[in-house]
Amino acid sequence: MAKGIIIVGAGTMGQSIGRLFGQHGWTVQAVDPTEAAREAFLTAVPGSTACAALEGAGQADLALECVPEDLALKRRVLAALEGAVPGGAPILSNTSGLRLEEMTADMARPERAVITHFFNPGDVIPAVEVVAAEDAPEGLCAEVMTLLRGLERRPVRLNNATPGFVANRIQHAIMRECLHLVDQGVASPAEIDEIVQWSVGVRMALSGPFRQRDLNGLGTHLSIAEYLYPDLCDRHDPSPSLTALVERGHLGKRSGKGFYDWPEEGDGAAAEAALRRVIALARDSVD
Ligand SMILES: NC(=O)c1ccc[n+]([C@@H]2O[C@H](COP(=O)([O-])OP(=O)(O)OC[C@H]3O[C@@H](n4cnc5c(N)ncnc54)[C@H](O)[C@@H]3O)[C@@H](O)[C@H]2O)c1
Repeated sequence: MAKGIIIVGAGTMGQSIGRLFGQHGWTVQAVDPTEAAREAFLTAVPGSTACAALEGAGQADLALECVPEDLALKRRVLAALEGAVPGGAPILSNTSGLRLEEMTADMARPERAVITHFFNPGDVIPAVEVVAAEDAPEGLCAEVMTLLRGLERRPVRLNNATPGFVANRIQHAIMRECLHLVDQGVASPAEIDEIVQWSVGVRMALSGPFRQRDLNGLGTHLSIAEYLYPDLCDRHDPSPSLTALVERGHLGKRSGKGFYDWPEEGDGAAAEAALRRVIALARDSVD
C-alpha cells in the first residue's frame, strides 16, 4: 500500500514538496486553515486531499510542517503532529533556520523531529539540508536520508545547526558583497548580474566552491585572499539600499518592481523548465 504523508502548511513550499512526494507514489494530505492555499495545493498535487485542521487528516506514516517561519506556531504544530504519525516515525520541519531544540520544546519526544530544509521549488532543486537532534534515536536520521534519496534529492546532514545552515549563509555573503558594490558605485545590479552569471554562476552550476578552487589552484586563491579580504564588505546590518527598496514596497517580481522592473508576473514555467535542464546537465557532468 502507498505510504502517506501529512503536510501542514499548503503554501509555496508545502505545494512543491507535496508534488515531490506525490510524484514518488505517496498519498499526500495537506492541512491549512486558508481555503485558497488548500485549493492551490489540490491543483498542484494531483490526487491529494486537503483539510482545514489536523483533526480532519487522520493518521499517516510521515509528517512535515511547512507553516510560516514563526517559532510559536512551529512549536504548536510539531507538538500536535506527534499524535498524527506512529511513535517511531520522524516528524519533519522545513524551517529556514529556527533552532530545532526551540521548535520542539512542546513535544513529548522532541528527538523525533528532524529539520529537512528543502529549497524552492522542493520538487526541482535537489539539495536538502538535514539537521537532527544530538540524541536522535539510532537510525532515525539515516532513515530520513534514505527517504530523501528515494525522492531523488541530494540530502546533506549538518553536524550542527549554524544559523542559516549552509546555503543561506553563502547566498547572503554573496548578496552582501553585491549590494556593497552597488552602494560603492562600482557597477549596477544588471552589470553585476552579467558578470556573476557568466563567470562564477556558470562554474557553480557544475561544481561546488571547494572543487572549483582545487581546479583553479589554491596558491592563487591564497594570494588574492591576502590582499582582498581587508577590502570586502563586513557590515553587520542589511544594506540601506535593500532596506529602502523593501520599505517602498519594491519586493521583486511579485510586486512588479525590485532591482529590475517586472511588468508581468508570468507563471515561471519557462524558468522552471530551464532550471530542470541545468540540473540535468549538472547531474550528467559530475555523477
Ligand atoms: N519560500 C521559500 O523559498 C522557502 C524555502 C525554504 C524554506 N522555507 C520555509 O518553509 C516554511 C514555509 O514557507 P512558505 O514559503 O511555504 O510559506 P507560505 O506563506 O507560502 O505558506 C505557509 C502556509 O502555512 C499556512 N498556515 C499558517 N498557519 C497554519 C497553521 N496553524 N496550520 C496549517 N497551516 C498554516 C498558511 O495559510 C500558508 O498557506 C517556512 O518555515 C519557510 O521559512 C521557505
